Parts: sequence; C-alpha cells; structure tokens
Amino acid sequence: MLKKLFTPAKIGNCEIPNRLIVPAMVMNLCTEDGMITERYIKYIEEKAKGGWGMVITEDYAVNVNAKGYQFIPGLYEDEQIEGNRRLTETVHKYDTKIFCQMYHPGRQSKHAVNGNVQPLAPSAIKDPFCMDLPREMTVEEIRQIVKDFGSTARRVKESGFDGLEIHAAHGYLISSFLSPFTNKRVDEYGGCFENRTRILDEIYACIRENVGADFPVQVRISANEYLLGGRTEADTYELVRHLDELGVDAIHISNGMYASPVIRQIIAPMYTEHAFNMDTAEQVRKLVSCPVIVTNRINDPKMADTILEMGKADFIGMGRGSLADPHLPEKARKGAFENIRYCIGCLQGCEAGLLAGTCATCLVNPRVGREYENPMEKTDSPKKVMVIGGGPAGLMAAETAARIGHRVTVYEAKNTLGGQFKSAAFPPGKGELSTFVSSLRKNLADMGVPVKLETPVTEELLASETPDAVIVATGAKPLVPPIKGLDGENVVSAEDVLLGNADVRPGPVVVCGGGEVGGETAHFLTQTCQDITLIEMRDDILVDMFPLMKMQLMQYIREAGIKVLTGARVASVDENGVFYTDQEGNTQFVPAATVVSAFGYKAYNPLEEAARKYCGNVQVIGCAVKAGNALTAVREGYEAALAI
Ligand SMILES: Cc1cc2nc3c(=O)[nH]c(=O)nc-3n(C[C@H](O)[C@H](O)[C@H](O)COP(=O)(O)O)c2cc1C
Ligand code: SF4
Repeated sequence: MLKKLFTPAKIGNCEIPNRLIVPAMVMNLCTEDGMITERYIKYIEEKAKGGWGMVITEDYAVNVNAKGYQFIPGLYEDEQIEGNRRLTETVHKYDTKIFCQMYHPGRQSKHAVNGNVQPLAPSAIKDPFCMDLPREMTVEEIRQIVKDFGSTARRVKESGFDGLEIHAAHGYLISSFLSPFTNKRVDEYGGCFENRTRILDEIYACIRENVGADFPVQVRISANEYLLGGRTEADTYELVRHLDELGVDAIHISNGMYASPVIRQIIAPMYTEHAFNMDTAEQVRKLVSCPVIVTNRINDPKMADTILEMGKADFIGMGRGSLADPHLPEKARKGAFENIRYCIGCLQGCEAGLLAGTCATCLVNPRVGREYENPMEKTDSPKKVMVIGGGPAGLMAAETAARIGHRVTVYEAKNTLGGQFKSAAFPPGKGELSTFVSSLRKNLADMGVPVKLETPVTEELLASETPDAVIVATGAKPLVPPIKGLDGENVVSAEDVLLGNADVRPGPVVVCGGGEVGGETAHFLTQTCQDITLIEMRDDILVDMFPLMKMQLMQYIREAGIKVLTGARVASVDENGVFYTDQEGNTQFVPAATVVSAFGYKAYNPLEEAARKYCGNVQVIGCAVKAGNALTAVREGYEAALAI
C-alpha cells in the first residue's frame, strides 16, 4: 500500500532510513541558559522509538541573545556540547538520524526572552505579534552573527549530530534579510537579490569552514510569505537555484512569517487545506539537484506517501503529526492507520502553549513533553476501573489506564462516543476532530476494553460492580439560563442543531451566545440559512477561543454576513423572536423563526457521591468538575489514569 514512505534516501552523505521527518519545533523544555534537559532528551527519544527517519531539533540559539523563546537550547558555548552528545547518542540507539536547526530570531523576539536586549533586524520594523521595536544591525553586527553561526555549527558537529539545518524561514533573522517586506537596507545587505541573500551566503560559507565539505547542511526557507511586498514563489525559485549552486545538501520548503495571514501561518490551523506547499516543492524539485523536504498540514502517512509518489518532494516534514502521535511511523508501517492519533490542527496545545510562555503540549496527546515523568510500564497491581463518560476526558483516561494494564470498562449514557467533541466536528473546517474520538475508540477496542453505550450508571450498577477505582467524566450539560421563552418550540440547542437532531425553520435565525459554540454554530448555519444574528452579552464574541483561530472565524462570520450584536443581554424569547437589552438599557427585538440556545455549558457531576459510597478511589475529571476546554479535560483524563 505505502510505496515510498519507508524507503531510505540520502541528504548529503547521510542516509535517512525513511521519508518521515520531524521538522524543528520549539518545545520550551530546556533551561534558561540554553542547556538541554533530560525532559527534552526523553521527548525526542520517544520519536526515535516511534520510527521517524529523522528528527530536526528545535531552533538552537547561535548566541546568548539569539532567543525567541525563553527555554530553547543553544550551542553557543562549549559547555553546551556535552548534553547534546547525550541527546545524539540516545537517538542513535534507534534507526533515526538527528539534525540540529540553528537560528537567530531577529525581530521576532522580545526583551523578555532574549536576555533583555533590543531585538536585531535588517531594518527597524516591528513584528506585529512580538511588538518589540528592533534595531537596524550594523555591518559589524552582521559579521559577528555570521561568525556565531559558524562556531555554533562546529559545536553541532562535535555534539554528534548527523547534519544541520540553517533556519532561513519564518521571518527570523536570515529570512528577514531575504525578504523585501522586512529588509529596507540600502547597503550591501539590502536591495537586490544578491544583497538580500548575502548574509545567508556568508553564513553558509562560514559554516562550511567550520564543518567541512562533507557534513550535511540543509536550508529551510519560506516559499511564500503571503504578505504585500513579501517573498513569493518567484523569489523562491530564484533562491533555490542559487542555494543549489552553493552546494547545500537539501532544501526544506515551509511558508509564512509571524505577520502572515492566519490560514497561511507557519503553523497552519485546521481551516487550511492539507499539504498546501506541495506544488511549490514540486517546482523547486525540478530546479535543484538536492533533495526537497515539504512541510505544513501533512498529517496522514498515506497522503505523505502519495506526495512522494507524485514526485512533489523527497521527504515529508510532519511536525504536529509527531506531537499528536510520536509513534505514527511505526503504526503506518504496520498498516494500523485507524490507531494513529492524527493532529487535528487545533493549535490549542502546541502553539497556544508556546504563546502562553509555557511549554508546547498537544490536545490529543497530553503525554507529549511529559515522557520523562512516566515510562508507561505495566502496573504490578491491575485494578478494576469504571470510567463513567465516553467524552474525550473519559476515553483518554480509559485508554491510558488500559495501556498500563488496568481492567477498564467505559460506560456512556448516550448511543455514541465523543461528548461535546462529536458536535464540535460539524462546523465547516472542523471535520478532523472526529479522528481523535475515532482513534480512541479503535485503541480501546484493540486492547479489549468494553465500551458500554446507552448504559447510564446508577447507584445499583456501582454497588454490583464493586470497582477498585472510578473515574467520573460525565462532562457538561448545556446551560439554560432562566429566561422566559427558552422552553418554546422554536428554541433548539446548538448541539442539537449541529448533530442534526433539530432542524431550523425557514426564516431568520438568532443564535443566543457568542462564545465558540455559538460562533461556530452560526458559521455552520450559513450553509443553509441566509439571515443569521448572533447575540452576545459581552463586548466581544469568541472570547473563549485561541486568538489565531478567533481571527479566522471572525473573518468567516464577517464574510458570511452574520449580524453580530454585542453588549446585548437576551431578555426573553417568544414565537416571533428575541427581545434583548442593548448597551443603553433599551429593549430591542430581533425577529426569528428559530432561536438557537448557545449560552454555554455547566459541569454535570451527578454520580460522584454515589461512587464514593462504593469505592474508595474516585476521581472527577474534565467538564464534570468545571465546564472548560478539551485541552484541560484530556490532560486530566491522562493524569487520572496514572493516579489510579
Ligand atoms: C510547537 C511548535 C514549535 C515550532 N518551532 C519551530 C522551530 O523551532 N523552527 C522551525 O523552523 N519551525 C518551527 N515550527 C514549525 C514546524 O516546523 C512546522 O513547519 C509547522 O508546524 C507546520 O508543519 P506541521 O503541519 O507538520 O506541523 C514549530 C511548530 C510548532 C507546532
Ligand atoms: S495541539 Fe492540536 S494542532 Fe497542536 S499538535 Fe496537537 S492536535 Fe495538532
């Protein structure tokens, strides 16, 4: 079935055992002074165990101030070599290669994380996300940075890495020199192609002086920045011919910078089409003699194999795919596609974690970055565990508990699994959410875990089962505030609309509640309804969403012509529509044939007390404690299983 994915191929003189590459991903797991940690090594080792052909490390700082995140590693001092030797030796116990990515963040950094210095850039233009005004670099500073890349490369080689990647993508320092969007210099480092490329040429030459002609050196670039006056494919084709002439060993095609539009971001969300860099990579491949890696929104091994088979690239970068499931390659090799935990493009664990200044994690894999805490060995004392609730929290608890050897049964009152995660997959662009629940279900089935649907847990059942441990994951129920008319026949819940349990009547629709569920339900309804109004009591809608996703959904809401009323408190509902109080305290009316109730959720925990009567080991998790987001619920499911 898979034709090329598991064939070896070379980058320079380094043979990579298969075509699946983990591209660089900052995890923020190291120390503030750039030393690597056991936690970081264990995180990378898990991928080596999982069968990736190559792991490219996160971006290593080339000097003490070259940091865009607080806890990234560096190789700017000889003391940093020893830890990295342990890392490369660990990875080399497996059939996996490891390259080191080297970078300087340029303007995409802040005083707060880079040792309290003003960020450096080709020109003094602020990045709209970092918002720290950078300083235009002097020629002397440019020459020093070139040397820093060279000496870091020497340490990379001495640390035992199989090769290195120059990070010339994503709006960081080198990339910002390449781009006329950020480089407005008029000296020999700005202006025409030769000048904008000069810093990269000098860095490459200096690296070669330090590592020799045979050490594999590849370059990562953003093929298109999707910005007015930014780099485009035309620039990229010119650049890759130049890099090929220089003799680089591979070219890694990515896209974007921090300032790029949401659906063309470096870490593209679920709204972005899959593998959108593949056609550019194919063109690049025609122009160069070295191998080409392509990355972004490729999360499926069969898709990866097809891209290879079509000749669009030589290697596939799968970043978040490796966070979601470090064992994806091994599962693909065995044909166990249904067992793979696919990245769903939600950004809630990985990018959101980094932007919050903590470490990156993953919504569908709470273990990522925490491998060092627990080897997941089988327990010596298997327990009989009742998991009540088949939503993401309960299923993650059940999967984790079963994996370490407990005897688990899952009880779900409804006739289907997934809880709120099921309906969350219905709005446009969110279909991939289904893969999470589906893979949990399959893994439980393969481990022989009984999943009892349409089985509400009662006190009698708890008494008769006599479990050793109970995990209460009964989730949340829609919140129905005491507003007159909400029990009317024209009122339906957002969840019922999404799941197709309730239809909307012809005519205008009013969605009450402008949080994520309300906003997405309104977006869902644009497929069949013309006249939609979203009413929110706060001053803004979608306040519970991760800002990048919010920006994109806002755009869809605007484009679809959904009317948004903020600062509007729903007062009552009747058969003709919704009365609300506006910001001035006046009562207003919006006509509606159907009113969708999306006021939020409240924790639902009816069984804790009964469970405690019959069992001394009861844990309540996820939305049964506090209606919140899936990231927290899934993490709590994982933690509860380990705490049994
Ligand atoms: C948490 C996280 C950190 C990242 N850090 C880096 C980085 O250090 N260097 C880099 O070149 N790209 C970085 N990226 C971008 C990824 O390498 C990759 O290009 C991006 O995630 C899109 O690919 P994917 O859809 O396979 O995840 C990061 C991505 C994530 C999710
Ligand atoms: S948090 Fe979401 S986007 Fe990030 S790796 Fe996990 S599933 Fe993918």
